[in-house]
Amino acid sequence: MLIKKPADIKPSEITPESVYRNRRKFMTDSAALVVGGAVAGTAGVSLAQNGDQLKARAPVTLQRTAPAYWWGEKFNSIKPAPDSEPFFTGEALTPYQDVTRYNNFYEFGMDKGDPSSNSDEFKVDPWSLTVSGEVAKPGTYNLEDVLKPVDLEERIYRLRCVEAWSMVIPWVGFPLADLIKQFEPTAKAQYVEFETIVQPETMPGINSRFAIVDWPYREGLRMDEAMNPLAFMAVGLYGDFLPPQNGAPMRLVVPWKYGFKSIKSIVRINFRETQPNTTWNDLQANEYGFYANVNPEVHHPRWRQDMERRLPQTLFSRQYIETRLFNGYGEHVAHLYDGMDLARNY
Ligand code: MTE
Repeated sequence: MLIKKPADIKPSEITPESVYRNRRKFMTDSAALVVGGAVAGTAGVSLAQNGDQLKARAPVTLQRTAPAYWWGEKFNSIKPAPDSEPFFTGEALTPYQDVTRYNNFYEFGMDKGDPSSNSDEFKVDPWSLTVSGEVAKPGTYNLEDVLKPVDLEERIYRLRCVEAWSMVIPWVGFPLADLIKQFEPTAKAQYVEFETIVQPETMPGINSRFAIVDWPYREGLRMDEAMNPLAFMAVGLYGDFLPPQNGAPMRLVVPWKYGFKSIKSIVRINFRETQPNTTWNDLQANEYGFYANVNPEVHHPRWRQDMERRLPQTLFSRQYIETRLFNGYGEHVAHLYDGMDLARNY
């Protein structure tokens, strides 16, 4: 990953976990009210009226980012994260405005503020998902149909970027395994490959002369990684729809791997016998491996990986914390790599 100059991050405070907990209770108790606001395009206002300062400072226009069929249905009944690891962490949440304004989404530009500034025109409705390869049920599906059978839940995960910054994000979504099972992979499906949409008319990074990626952005997982209960498909964050800059309408979240594995705005899933090519591995194989498991002992050739900068930060206050193997999720995923040399399979 190219390291850019430090982005202009607002000196916001860390949200105390208790504040969000109360808000989550509010979201569950009065989801109908919130969704009513969403339909009217005033979700920011209706949440703010209920004391939600986070959203008041960073309102989102839900009509633009959420397909209509989600309003009043899926987002009415989000199962809150349990109060225990691994689907929850008691660490302070990264505030909404940092999660949604400090992003990597090169299709919208390479600076951290570009995805939020340049994604106003991004179109997510209608959205279809093409499923191919080693499955009994290939085809092109409306996202609406794919989401019908899933139940939405919340997961509070750490996100560790390979650039050595990290966040704590309350996602809304469902286990990746619940999506995969719908297509009935065959015994030959050893890997799953994902692709991001290419929408040149709304994504200024696509045709930029500075673009370094051979679009579409691609990522992949081994099947057993994809079926691990921690692998998650997010359709929202902070109890709300995903804004474009965070990968609307649906993106992957693989919390034990570096953030570049968590591919955004997915339109294609392909099941294969062999390991797929992936964007960053293709660009710079000695720096970005296929596995990309968070590992404080395996350094990037150009910087160390044993510490990370927990966002938010200001120029005067930077929080450095120790990076943990598998981003702290080792108990749940280390067995996937039994017998593997993690330094060679970085
Ligand atoms: N997906 C696409 N399509 N394009 C990207 O540039 N960047 C990746 C990942 N998914 C990226 C992407 C990287 S490097 C990171 S760290 C995470 O998205 C950041 O997710 P966030 O912006 O929601 O924090």
